[in-house]
Amino acid sequence: MAINPPVDATTTEAWGKLQKHYDELQAQGIDLKKWFNDDPNRVDALSFDVGTLRFDFSKNLIKPETIKLFAELADEVHLAQRTKDMYSGVHINNTEDRAVLHTALRREASDEGKLIVDGQDVVKDVRETLDRMYAFADKVRSGEWKGVTGKEIETVVNIGIGGSDLGPVMVYEALKPYADAGIKARYISNIDPNDIAEKTRDLDPETTLFVVVSKTFGTLETLTNAREARAWLLEELQASGAIDGSDAQNAEAVEKHFVAVSTNLERVKEFGIDPKNAFGFWDWVGGRYSVDSAVGLTLAIVFGPARFEEFLAGFREVDKYFAQTPFEKNAVVIMGMINVWYRNFFKVASHAVLPYDQYLHRFPAYLQQLTMESNGKSVRWDGTPVTTETGEIFWGEPGTNGQHAFYQLIHQGTQLIPADFIAFANTPNPLKDGDQDMHELLLGNYFAQTKALAFGKTADEVRAEGTPEDIVPARVFTGNRPTTSIMGVRLDAFALGELISLYEMITFVEGTVWGLDSYDQWGVELGKQLAKQITPAISQDDDALAAQDASTRSLINFYREVREF
Ligand code: F6P
Repeated sequence: MAINPPVDATTTEAWGKLQKHYDELQAQGIDLKKWFNDDPNRVDALSFDVGTLRFDFSKNLIKPETIKLFAELADEVHLAQRTKDMYSGVHINNTEDRAVLHTALRREASDEGKLIVDGQDVVKDVRETLDRMYAFADKVRSGEWKGVTGKEIETVVNIGIGGSDLGPVMVYEALKPYADAGIKARYISNIDPNDIAEKTRDLDPETTLFVVVSKTFGTLETLTNAREARAWLLEELQASGAIDGSDAQNAEAVEKHFVAVSTNLERVKEFGIDPKNAFGFWDWVGGRYSVDSAVGLTLAIVFGPARFEEFLAGFREVDKYFAQTPFEKNAVVIMGMINVWYRNFFKVASHAVLPYDQYLHRFPAYLQQLTMESNGKSVRWDGTPVTTETGEIFWGEPGTNGQHAFYQLIHQGTQLIPADFIAFANTPNPLKDGDQDMHELLLGNYFAQTKALAFGKTADEVRAEGTPEDIVPARVFTGNRPTTSIMGVRLDAFALGELISLYEMITFVEGTVWGLDSYDQWGVELGKQLAKQITPAISQDDDALAAQDASTRSLINFYREVREF
């Protein structure tokens, strides 16, 4: 079905009003200290509760009236209709002619009746796959599923890349304290042989289960790693005498130690994995939106089906909130619009995500794919050029580590870097350093950083500390550096589902304003094609080498000169 061309946000009335508002704020001088003093209601007006999360937008460079303009812009770009279209299965991924239905992965059958899309009873299929996946996870967890020599599985190894890796590994790291079956997970993604070599080096093949995850089952990195893993498994088992190397025993070993997750079950079969050990998903789930599908199989095994259901419930909480809350009160819409505000009016290029929780150390990397593969685009969904800047560079590291690395630039550098600070009130590891609660030391830093960024330190304050005059400028903090604080009750499966859905929807809001198809990723294709063409030139094919550009030729020649194997 043809979809309407995008509204050019820059021509809307709301955009004009936001530009005027921005110019006025700049003319008056952006001054968070003053805004807090002038408006005692500021924090209340700019704080929101969503599920288990508290959002404080008050340290952003907005006023409560800015939110009204955000809501008007959301109206004018038809955000409500596009949300309805997404949730109901309209092919809003029009460059691939696909529905975008990751919200259906966590929908309850009882929610809104049946969802039939392109003839498929979507929620029924989702639940059936989850049931199969849970039954399998339970077998592995209970020890009923055994390796070829009769031993229980101790390590599950996910082989995938991009969306088939970043989500699962991020969640595995985030929920580690909830791993309750004595099963560990590892994640192999890179085609660099060092990755698989290091991740398998100390593993016992008899207790290892490989989960090959690939939406297309055609990704070079994943298939290469999967073949390598299969060779490793068979060689190791033969070397120890566990199998005799006959075709029958090899096939049995692969059957017991390899399962797959894919939308392409034909290719899974071709690879040699029995389709009964394969878990499907559908082309309407984008790779970077797939962690809550069968792509999360390693998570269901490590944490158990009940926890996986809690994870889905967290997503659902935010999905419903996002779709049902009026724009002016909708923290998710506001957060997306705040990003638009900085990107398009302040012209900022990058956005830091700073979790004050070590368990979230892979969250920024996960968000990089989610946000940058989705919104790093220069044409709109109707093929016309974008009319304003798109896609911020998302990056970050956990606090407090980042404080001792790159925060200097955020505090005193020449560019504005909006940052999301994320922390949780409770920790599963309430350790003490003497009488001092370590978690409160962490939180002390979480609170201090946004305060320093917002309110800074004036030259007079620096002087009052007795600082010599010539050093005063170096110690001044301008303040007015924007942050959003997100605080949750605890980092559990539910909260993590909430957080992921939050950023999925923020990405969607921004993509809608910019008129983007946030669900394709043509930009990664050219590199893949060229890698295929260039690889033969590296060591064997001189004609292929001659066909390369001068720089590539020169680099390959250097490689040929210095390689030692
Ligand atoms: O990097 C491009 C991409 O297509 C991602 O969108 C995707 O998550 C990743 O490759 C892996 O793809 P697949 O799951 O099909 O192996």
